[in-house]
Amino acid sequence: MGDILGIGTTHYPPGLVPDEYKPWPLARMLHTDPRIPPHLKDPANWPEPMRAEWGADEGITSFKAHRARVFSSFRTLRDEIAAFRPDFILMWGDDQYENFREDVIPPFCVLAYDTLTFQPFKRLGNRPNIWGEPGDKTFTWPGQPAAGRLLAGRLLEAGIDMPYAYRPLHGDGVAHAFANTLLYLDLDRRGFSYPVLPVTVNCYGRDVIRYQGGGTQHAEEADPPAPSPRRCFELGRLTARILRESPWRVVLMASSSWSHAFLTAKNHFLYPDLEADRMLLEHLRAGEYETWRDLPLERLEASGQHEVLNWVCLAGAMAELGAKMELVDWVETWIFNAPKCQAIFR
Ligand SMILES: [Fe+2]
Repeated sequence: MGDILGIGTTHYPPGLVPDEYKPWPLARMLHTDPRIPPHLKDPANWPEPMRAEWGADEGITSFKAHRARVFSSFRTLRDEIAAFRPDFILMWGDDQYENFREDVIPPFCVLAYDTLTFQPFKRLGNRPNIWGEPGDKTFTWPGQPAAGRLLAGRLLEAGIDMPYAYRPLHGDGVAHAFANTLLYLDLDRRGFSYPVLPVTVNCYGRDVIRYQGGGTQHAEEADPPAPSPRRCFELGRLTARILRESPWRVVLMASSSWSHAFLTAKNHFLYPDLEADRMLLEHLRAGEYETWRDLPLERLEASGQHEVLNWVCLAGAMAELGAKMELVDWVETWIFNAPKCQAIFR
């Protein structure tokens, strides 16, 4: 009988780049994003806590503290995982127009690769990374194809029509949601070589091709929607049920920040919907996982919470196991795109 540990975390891209490059999207969007009304490009017209965080250096000072807290939680999570000694880590993460593009967008996909091989720093352009490693450095992680086959097979038998893949389709096939998380879990480069089974979730749904997973519109027509929260929850529930009956010790992990400023139209794409996120957090704290299952997709989209669908899979799994959340840290922000939740579920 398998044993399961639940983990929720983030894969925040700006964390990869040194502070002085101001890698947070807002620093760039203020100059380039036509969706932000002209008067809101002036920090004098922002809400007070947002102005304070921006400070006199466009957020550089605040970012140091923000990143330090997020990284401190990553170190805690790393140690928890090492103490648990998993046979593998199943990670739910979004594919933002990375492995899946116009030729196929599956709602979910089990990536049953033999090996994950990726070059995450190629996404940074000419900017260096915080480790001072070469821009073309290749990382490899063992996959878990046997568990991938078993999981996809059992899900299909249980009525979830689960796609699977044995090799990448575009690029290195390891979206930043997975790659960044692994880099952060090995922050101090002490080694973190547990096999990884990525399961993609099409979180960007109606925007995945139209916006190519980012903040720039590339097409007029919206795409079909993301899988519903109800379906994500069901997938998580069944995944936990299947793996609990397996011989493996498994970490079930969701990786994403919550409400994203660049997806939140009601805040003019300037800042995230912190109020909506706080409500989600309260439900998790109280173990009220079913409220997550019943979230209307449209409400998540209106709050820029597209990527929270990864966490809805985790919530379904934790509901199945009756696990309780221990919050490691909840880091709010107005200017660094999205608040970060990091948590352990036992
Ligand atoms: Fe993402």
